[in-house]
Amino acid sequence: PDLSLDAHDGLLFEQVPLETIAHHVGTPCWVMSSGTLRKRAARLLGAMEAAGLSVSAHFAVKANDHLAVLRILSECELGADVVSGGELLRARKVGIPASKIVFSGVGKTDVELRLALEERIAQINVESVEELEIISALASGMDREINIVLRVNPDVDAKTHAKITTGVAGNKFGIPYDEALPLYRRARELPGVKAVGYAVHIGSQILTVAPYRAAYARIAELVRATRAEGLAVSVVDCGGGLGICYRDEGEGSPDAWAGAIRAELGDLDVRLAIEPGRWIAAPAGVLLASVVLRKAVTGGASFLVLNAAMNDLLRPSLYDAWHGIVPLSARDAMGKPEVVSVVGPVCESGDTFAQARLLPHLQRGAHVAILDTGAYGAVMSSTYNARPLAAEVLVDGHTWSVIRPRQTVEELWGNERFPDGSEEAA
Ligand code: LLP
Repeated sequence: PDLSLDAHDGLLFEQVPLETIAHHVGTPCWVMSSGTLRKRAARLLGAMEAAGLSVSAHFAVKANDHLAVLRILSECELGADVVSGGELLRARKVGIPASKIVFSGVGKTDVELRLALEERIAQINVESVEELEIISALASGMDREINIVLRVNPDVDAKTHAKITTGVAGNKFGIPYDEALPLYRRARELPGVKAVGYAVHIGSQILTVAPYRAAYARIAELVRATRAEGLAVSVVDCGGGLGICYRDEGEGSPDAWAGAIRAELGDLDVRLAIEPGRWIAAPAGVLLASVVLRKAVTGGASFLVLNAAMNDLLRPSLYDAWHGIVPLSARDAMGKPEVVSVVGPVCESGDTFAQARLLPHLQRGAHVAILDTGAYGAVMSSTYNARPLAAEVLVDGHTWSVIRPRQTVEELWGNERFPDGSEEAA
């Protein structure tokens, strides 16, 4: 990403010293880089274009739903892939046109579906026969017609973490492959819905192209079989999932992804769509934290206890995810390395950012950045242990601004009431 180490100012994000932000805003604090977001969005779209593909890209809002982030990406011509009414309204709030919004998810409620119909979004990605019938009934009741694509489970193993793999038979996502064509037929007969194509999303943090090729080959086969029955197919949504390099695994290649799409779907004469999240946003964010104290362990690795915790960044606890941790100050970064465990203060053993990690020697009060946290970072935060949500900052070139002030403890209980309706404990 746009991180560099300056001998005097320490770690810079774009041109802004992160120590400056830690000093003025405090920690824990999320920092996003506008420049990185723009570059990565352009890089991804450029790869599709270079492969000769005309693809509409819908940012997976779940990865980072901050309005400022969404607005930057919408300026980069991205639409939105949403999975809730809340995400739909966030996308609309920053002016993403309804014609660039697609709605995925296994359990869209009637309220959310009505909202999608009222807003006249581009398409709903349907995940079951039950859902198809509900949408048809709601749409006809509202005298509307909505484009739908069927999300197919291609039964392809994306070889990623079990908790983020979505395209193998038996998990809750998508319509079983063999049931897709019969359902497409059925959709063509139902009022209020217009079946226009298929969607597939096999998982997240995918680093090789083989699972994509396999999934898209199956979708191409399905499109041909559907057309052979005289049914029109005009859209294929290729999902998201391209992975990034957290440690040393190498980054998923946009060119290779584009190549897979072109190889398997390029000749089908369909409108193509993608739903990238992590690849664009993850390297565009870091989480700043301070060392609360060092806890020495006789005969073992010391603990570095940070003031950030699993309630801020859940990925290490939930997926054993590896995130780089680097000191902000140039002097700390040059320090003598030692092996430590980096943990948060929350009362769970799972509140661990890194085990037996080689880091420069850091004292109480030192600042660190936890890297690649721009996707599935702040959005997955909670206030567990009555820990207010961290502040958020956006850098752009030399400038930076607070895009979300740190939540206060009073805000945490601001909506709580006693059973008698009062707000006061006394
Ligand atoms: N489209 C659909 C239908 C999805 O379910 C997802 C992600 C995406 C697109 C975007 O995938 P991406 O390009 O970001 O890989 N919290 C987990 C990741 C969950 C992904 C869920 N679906 C993590 O932190 O690794």
